[in-house]
Order: sequence, then structure tokens, then C-alpha cells
Amino acid sequence: MSPREPYLGRHRDVPGVEFVASGKVRDIYAVDADTLLFVTSDRVSAFDVIMDDPIPDKGRVLTAVAAWWFERTRDLVPNHLLSTRVEDVPGLDDAWRERLRGRVMLVRSATPTPVEWVVRGYLAGSGWKEYRASGTVCGIPLPAGLQLASRLPEPILTPTTKADDHDRPLSPDQARELVGAELYAQVERVALDLFRRGTEVLAPLGILFADTKFEFGHLPPEHGGGLLLIDEILTPDSSRFWPADAWQPGVNPPSYDKQILRDHLETLDWDKQYPPPALDPAVLERTAARYLELCEKVTGGLPEGVGA
Ligand SMILES: Nc1ncnc2c1ncn2[C@@H]1O[C@H](COP(=O)(O)OP(=O)(O)O)[C@@H](O)[C@H]1O
Ligand SMILES: [Mg+2]
Repeated sequence: MSPREPYLGRHRDVPGVEFVASGKVRDIYAVDADTLLFVTSDRVSAFDVIMDDPIPDKGRVLTAVAAWWFERTRDLVPNHLLSTRVEDVPGLDDAWRERLRGRVMLVRSATPTPVEWVVRGYLAGSGWKEYRASGTVCGIPLPAGLQLASRLPEPILTPTTKADDHDRPLSPDQARELVGAELYAQVERVALDLFRRGTEVLAPLGILFADTKFEFGHLPPEHGGGLLLIDEILTPDSSRFWPADAWQPGVNPPSYDKQILRDHLETLDWDKQYPPPALDPAVLERTAARYLELCEKVTGGLPEGVGA
């Protein structure tokens, strides 16, 4: 496999580290008791099904964008990122270094909270569905007369469960019960600060920040047990970004993520269960281009390992 070939990571065979788990997109390895290696693949999931086909360099885009934001939000909250350098990963030979270049994050191991912390500034996706049915999002009442893609009076925290299959909305009270009122208040403050930071940085780039998901965790007690921002941050997989010039309430705006793929899948005769359908190469290519475009707009460059 050449370093430029898409990386699906299905063999979980990175040498020198111990495989721990695979998420939909990332493979997690243990480096030592305190440190994890995240390898971000080119896998793409839609409707919670992982496609067989990769989106070339998607994992490099996610890594570059997340690392960029981790550096620019450290003043608001400490995060888990230690390094994105393949040279810092122990036990890799040259071929593995090139293969994984731009895809790795060494992170501090944490215990994730049992809640996913979604912040919404606009009405879209599952939030729009709930609002249309009941005038609320996660049980939080919103003003009448909002449309799809309407801007909310102010950004709100809409927690969800961290389930293996489909995430379900939690009311703020249900989330408080799960994590305690004190932690809830702390995370709410930080999550809204992070969302405000994202909005301020993206607005001059002509990007509307519609919504996003954060994950938080705790360090082990022997390291003080402090709260840490973990996982990924403000990537096209965890967030909905819209081109500001295409935004209009009532209309679903085109987005900088896998919307192209989702729209394509809706045209197929597929029941949204495994196995996934074979994908049109043109759709994969357009999706890849969209990810790279977002990366360039936000970070000002291509991810490490791309276009070299
Ligand atoms: N610092 C960390 N310590 C422990 N687990 C983490 C850390 N950061 C993220 N995680 C977990 O690693 C997984 C990331 O892999 P991913 O492919 O994104 O999974 P998912 O399919 O759940 O989105 C998530 O389950 C996330 O909760
Ligand atoms: Mg994830």
C-alpha cells in the first residue's frame, strides 16, 4: 500500500501499539497507561452504516481540522491532544509512518462522560424534526414560527445519549441526572464558549456554524481527575457548516460534509441497513473535494500528507 492510498484501517495492525477499539471512523490503540493513539481512517458512515468505500484523505482532513481547533481553544478548556506527529508514535517503520502521516493523534486517555454534548445555533437535522413535531428541541421550548435552518435566538445545549446505535435526545434534567448538576453546569458553560469561538472564527470565512457535538472526559484520579475536551472538535463529521451565501431559512442549505453522500444514498433503493450499497466514484470524489475545501478554508492549507 502506498502512503497516498486511502486508509480503511480494517486490519487493526499498526505495529508497536496495542489495539483497543474501533469506532465508526477511528481505530484506537494503547501506547501506555496514560496515552492513546487515534488513527483516523477514510471510513465514512451514513445513516449509521459504515460504507465499504473510502473517502480519500478524509481521515487526514479530520485530523488537521481537529488539531487546528484544539490549539485555538486551549485557553477555554484543556484538551486531550498531545501530538499529531507520526515521529512521536513509537514502533513505526518508515512505511507505516508514511501511511499514517496526517492521520494520527496521540491523546491523553480519559473516561468519557456518558453524554454527547450537542450545541445548536440553527435549527437542522433531528432538532428541526423535534421542533416541527412539538415546538421543542430536547424538550427545550423554542419560539413559534421558526423554519428549517432558522437561526435560534441564542445557541443552546441539547445533550444526547452516547449509545452504540442511534443517539437519543436527553432533556437538560435527564442529562443532569446522568452526570450531576455541577458537571452539567460546567460543561454547558464551556460548550457554549467553544461554540461562540467557532462562530466568531468561521463567520469571516463565510461559513455558518449550525451545530456541533463535543465530547468531554475526566483524567484518571491519579492525574487530578480534571475535565478534558476529548474526541474531535469542529470537524465536518461532528459539525454542520453551511456556506453563508447559500443560507436561507426554510431551505436545507448545502453543507461541507457528507451531505452529498447522504443525498446520493436517498436516490438509491437501499434500506439503510448493512450491507451498504456500492457507491458511485463521482460521488466519492465530490465528497472528498468538499472535505478538502473545508480544511483549506479553515486551516489555510491542505492536511499533512496530502498534495505533497
Ligand atoms: N481521550 C480519550 N480517551 C478515551 N476515549 C476517547 C478519548 N477521546 C475520544 N474517545 C472515544 O473514542 C471514540 C472515537 O472513535 P470514533 O470512530 O469517533 O467513534 P464513534 O463511532 O463513537 O464516533 C469515541 O467513542 C470517543 O468517545
Ligand atoms: Mg466519533
